[in-house]
Amino acid sequence: MTRALMLGVESSCDDTAAAVVTEDGLVLSSVVSSQMEAAERFGGVVPELASRVHAAEVVPVITRALDQAGVTPDDLTAIAVTRGPGLSGSLLVGVSAAKAFAMAWNKPIVGVNHLEGHLASASLGEHPVVYPALVLLVSGGHCLLARLEAPGVQRVLGQTRDDSAGEAYDKVARILGLGFPGGPVIDRLAKQGTDTLGFPRPMLNKGLEFSFSGLKTAVSSYVKQNPDYVLEEVCASFAAAVMDVLIAKVERALSLDDYASVAVVGGVAASPVLRGRMAELSERTGVTVCMPPMKLATDNGAMIAAAGWPIFRESGGHGLEFPANPRLKLPES
Ligand code: KG4
Ligand code: ZN
Repeated sequence: MTRALMLGVESSCDDTAAAVVTEDGLVLSSVVSSQMEAAERFGGVVPELASRVHAAEVVPVITRALDQAGVTPDDLTAIAVTRGPGLSGSLLVGVSAAKAFAMAWNKPIVGVNHLEGHLASASLGEHPVVYPALVLLVSGGHCLLARLEAPGVQRVLGQTRDDSAGEAYDKVARILGLGFPGGPVIDRLAKQGTDTLGFPRPMLNKGLEFSFSGLKTAVSSYVKQNPDYVLEEVCASFAAAVMDVLIAKVERALSLDDYASVAVVGGVAASPVLRGRMAELSERTGVTVCMPPMKLATDNGAMIAAAGWPIFRESGGHGLEFPANPRLKLPES
């Protein structure tokens, strides 16, 4: 029996990624070439540099994804590529490469919203997403809650007014001289400390919106005023404040409507602390929690392929004319 296969291509920020995913969500390969070293050296992503690296990496990454899946271009049903939001030059590289392959291989192509990709990553985990689902999307660029009626059909319930949770992690890591990205290193140090500093929990008891810039400022003021600060204590107190807010918002959203499951996606969903807190929430409330495997929480091609399937089924392909759009929003339905 021939399987329907989607090639997913992602290049919206600093990871060049490609993957092959079957129509029922089986990930046959997922290759990610990250620019971590450059980002660490420059303390963040440098857009011009990122697009140059994408240009060098995109063809080998796509080739490796096909090889690792053990398939040839002929076997593909369609190609899905991130068309936004993200860095303009980075998006152009992925979109142009995917269109060139679509033309050369005579395959349909669909442009995918990066955020819909993250939402779809929930379905790549161990537990199937049951709809309607509440999704918390927490990445470097975004922090929002959405109600997912079916794959690809969502309504945004609330988002951040300023920094995203991942951005707060990255900025606090910079303040503490811990390099980039901040999430993994802060999480590791947080485990060795305790939450003793009582940092603010912004908008904890207010609605479904988020705000993390005040928390980042509180950490910055604390370390300036206490040069002998204990690093592990600062990390533990900061991470606890972020987690308390995320969990409180999920609980509020759950109390406001009926949901069959709750999913957490985006780079911060790779956090073992957040995974632990969600497991605890699941035990306490009985709600089913779906999370992508750690590797598919941060940017990858598999989530783009997964999000590409419902779009392809509905449209049959977008043609070669669609543009990359750095400011693409999540469509609200
Ligand atoms: O989804 P992602 O790879 O890229 C965006 O679309 O933004 O998310 C990257 C973000 C970064 O801010 C990074 O600090 C955060 O995810 N992150 C984590 C962890 N791993 C990555 N945050 C907390 N704990 C982690 N283990
Ligand atoms: Zn992302």
